[in-house]
Amino acid sequence: MKKFFFGKGFLKLIILIVLSGYIFVSFTGGDPLSAITKSNNDHGKDIYIRYCMACHQSDGSGVPGLYPPVISSNWQEENIDFLIEVTLYGLSGEVDVDGEIYDNVMPANTYLTNNQVAAVLNYIGKELNNRKLNVNPADVEAVRGQNR
Ligand code: HEC
Repeated sequence: MKKFFFGKGFLKLIILIVLSGYIFVSFTGGDPLSAITKSNNDHGKDIYIRYCMACHQSDGSGVPGLYPPVISSNWQEENIDFLIEVTLYGLSGEVDVDGEIYDNVMPANTYLTNNQVAAVLNYIGKELNNRKLNVNPADVEAVRGQNR
């Protein structure tokens, strides 16, 4: 009896329980992206982090010669339909972003919901470009409609 409770096996069991608890917590609570995969999150910032940041960078400045910035006149002027279209369907071939030529491929994101597309564009507008875009889910649906 004494051996069972205080022997090496018992200690290993405790360590195992503590370790698996730690791993469980770090997978559920510690990873901000796991919350997005679980719910159909439409927070603009979360969507940006998950679907745009790898290429366009957290501050939106892009990568010279590869990924154009999402801080540009495209975002600061009246181009909402263009922004929706690129976000949904991607872009390829030469594109001039504020005098820099990019010739690369951006993949489509048609699986994003209308709410998610509106939210991510409004996030990039407001937080990265200091411009309130006011993109509505209905605007996104209208662009989808033109491409069906
Ligand atoms: C795999 C990398 C990649 C990801 C992820 C990505 N883009 Fe892009 N994006 C590009 C590239 C490359 C271009 C330029 C394409 C070309 O050269 O024709 C571009 C161009 C753009 C443009 C037009 C040019 C500009 O900067 O104004 C917009 C708008 C845009 N992306 C928005 C987004 C949004 C919003 C997301 C997230 C939902 C996103 N992109 C995710 C690579 C990416």
